Amino acid sequence: MNFEVQFVAPSEFETPCLIVPIWQGEEFNEIASAIDEKLGGLIQSVRDEDGFKAANGEVKVLYTPSALPAARVLLLGLGKRDKWSSIKLRHAAARAARAARSIKREEFAFIVPQSTLEAPESAQAITEGILLGLHIFNDFKTDEETKSLTQLQNVTLLASDQSTLDAVQAGIQSGQLAAEATLRARAWVNMPSNRKSPQFLALVAQKIAEENNLRCEIWDENKVREEKMDALYGVGMGSDNPPRFIILDYAPPGKEQDAPIILVGKGMSFDSGGYSLKPSPSMEDMKDDMAGAAVVLGSMSAIAQLQPNQRVMALVPSAENMISGRAQRPGDIVTARNGKTIEVLNTDAEGRLILADALSYATEQNPKAIIDFATLTGAIGVALGQVCAGLVANDDALSAKIVQSGERTGDRVWALPLWDEYRDAMKGTVSDLRNITSDRYAGSITAAVFLEKFVGENIPWAHLDIASVALIREERPLSMRGATGFGVRLVLDLLANWEED
Ligand code: BES
Ligand code: MN
Ligand code: ZN
Repeated sequence: MNFEVQFVAPSEFETPCLIVPIWQGEEFNEIASAIDEKLGGLIQSVRDEDGFKAANGEVKVLYTPSALPAARVLLLGLGKRDKWSSIKLRHAAARAARAARSIKREEFAFIVPQSTLEAPESAQAITEGILLGLHIFNDFKTDEETKSLTQLQNVTLLASDQSTLDAVQAGIQSGQLAAEATLRARAWVNMPSNRKSPQFLALVAQKIAEENNLRCEIWDENKVREEKMDALYGVGMGSDNPPRFIILDYAPPGKEQDAPIILVGKGMSFDSGGYSLKPSPSMEDMKDDMAGAAVVLGSMSAIAQLQPNQRVMALVPSAENMISGRAQRPGDIVTARNGKTIEVLNTDAEGRLILADALSYATEQNPKAIIDFATLTGAIGVALGQVCAGLVANDDALSAKIVQSGERTGDRVWALPLWDEYRDAMKGTVSDLRNITSDRYAGSITAAVFLEKFVGENIPWAHLDIASVALIREERPLSMRGATGFGVRLVLDLLANWEED
């Protein structure tokens, strides 16, 4: 898809579809008035008589034969100005793009609304909204109707000010990069588990590394064993698709030995629960149990192109949780890489086991910070719904940065406490730790308490539980049912705004 920016009076611009943003409860601005005038007051009457309120994301298509160079005008509600944010703009742009597709436009022009948002921020939000809102997962559909859906080819953003042309162009570029990385993450998560495996994720990482000249290391099951990652090995040994440990390393020239920011992503290519077998309905979506891996791999593919002046490492412990004569049993005791012993009382609490080894390894790299992404607990959905991720961190500054990036990108997160009262929950009876608690209280926090035991002291660490947002059951403005790519844009924003304290 092609994006460009132009500075022209929208009422003079020739396009198959002109998207005209309208604020709720306000007089038309200059641009809308000029268009309305040419249309003989049509927009005004649609508002007064047809009940078009201009609520956020509300759309109305107007047929405008010969009154304007534009063949159609698509009115787009922005909502009320005092509720405005980049999230609202992203949602509105997504709705507009979908509406343009439904009237079979392959091309449209979008007037960048003037607001409190800076030009690059607006352009980025519009670009992301369009690209993410139009995405559909139809790789496995064979019917003509789905296949013949109109493909958008060209988008022109109409800037209201000549001086903002470059800024809008820059915003478009950031938006494209972030959205494309998000779409890659969606594709991997949407892929069914008969098409992916730990080996597949390793190949994805190798390809990213080759294309972008990153350092990449893949540990196979033997190496995982040799390297004392018995928690990861134990989770993976029941499957015919053996476990992998993936290391991707981006470093600016001369900074190969710098302290990295480390991203860790849970990479279960499928989670049956193992011998603590999941009931069928809970197993349906378990192809998404590698969504954390998708976040960090998708992010790395964009980071390699953005070339920030900061070393960033990605770690993906990957396995398939299955049942067989070799599978882990409830009650097995494994020794993690950092030497701590864990009694595996529930083979379905496997995410924290594979993350234990990855976090131990991360700790050894002397990192600036560790941020992990994991579809870790069903409990996070009970607490927060499919609206935001849960965040548990040992460092308030890091936590605040992540919350802010969440607000800017719309990948929202909500911080949960990590108070001392929770910290004994995972103590073992016959081993150092056990992998479940004896009750169901605070399941997402106690899971994080377990993870914290593998993070070195004084290392700022944040854990994002994305179990309820990685794959959604109902359509949202930016995503159809299925994988969302949640987290990729958050990571990119976080790195773009990273400041040393
Ligand atoms: N992969 C699941 C968590 C999950 C649930 C992801 C729903 C996506 C959607 C994880 O491995 C798991 O099974 N967690 C258990 C932990 C429990 C046994 C302590 C859970 O949440 O039930
Ligand atoms: Mn599980
Ligand atoms: Zn899992």
